[in-house]
Amino acid sequence: MIHYKSVSELAKMRRSARILADTILRVMDAVAPGRSTADLDAAAEELIRAAGAVSNFKGYRGTYPATICTSVNDEIVHGIPSATRVLAEGDLLSLDFGCIWEGFHSDSAVSLFVGGVAPSPEAERLVKVTEAALDAAVAAVVPGARLSDIGAAIEGVATPEGLGIVREYGGHGIGRAMHEDPFIQNYGPAGRGPALKPGLTVALEPMLNLGGEETRLLADDWTVVTADGSLSAHFEHTVAVTEDGHEILTARG
Ligand code: MF3
Ligand code: CO
Repeated sequence: MIHYKSVSELAKMRRSARILADTILRVMDAVAPGRSTADLDAAAEELIRAAGAVSNFKGYRGTYPATICTSVNDEIVHGIPSATRVLAEGDLLSLDFGCIWEGFHSDSAVSLFVGGVAPSPEAERLVKVTEAALDAAVAAVVPGARLSDIGAAIEGVATPEGLGIVREYGGHGIGRAMHEDPFIQNYGPAGRGPALKPGLTVALEPMLNLGGEETRLLADDWTVVTADGSLSAHFEHTVAVTEDGHEILTARG
């Protein structure tokens, strides 16, 4: 069942998302060669708490052990921060964040190169196109559009670039739970599914691979990697459908 948010609920979503966006900016600033992914997790946890919010990742499904996900290079999503995972210049780092404020969840992810330098033009293209795919997904969010227009927009950006679209994971409704209906595929034909209506709040999150679309789950039962070892990127925003378009709740800066 889709939960449409009232004006006062949206105000809480906005605040939750603002806290998250500020956290992301601060943690992005802390990314540097020599830092471990556990350092970044600790920084995020502190910032979320200091803002009066709580983590929605920690304890997710009873077992997720950290505040953020840190997925490096061929890791697609749900990489677990670790003190022994020390970042090196040119690593492609995907950071996924969420928090709860006054009962409302927000969820957002970014990908970046450690030290600000891409290891290859292909890697740089992957990150640029994945962000462009998120922009296209967001642009598809307008009242009256259909749910599957979002996935079609992502596919329309990714496929001409020859990138693999991760199939098993996708976007989702968000609100009083991190994952609400509807599930949002990152591919497929436009014009299907429910019409988007004001009050719907969704997390849109394309995950694209430089190689094929196949994935593998590591033995930690969380980390999802590309089956062919290729690089992967992930961007995500929490977005609300408004009367005349959309509002990117997790917009940074
Ligand atoms: N942002 C992630 C998603 O929507 C949620 C990660 S939950 C965690 O899939 F437990 F894996 F952290
Ligand atoms: Co999400």
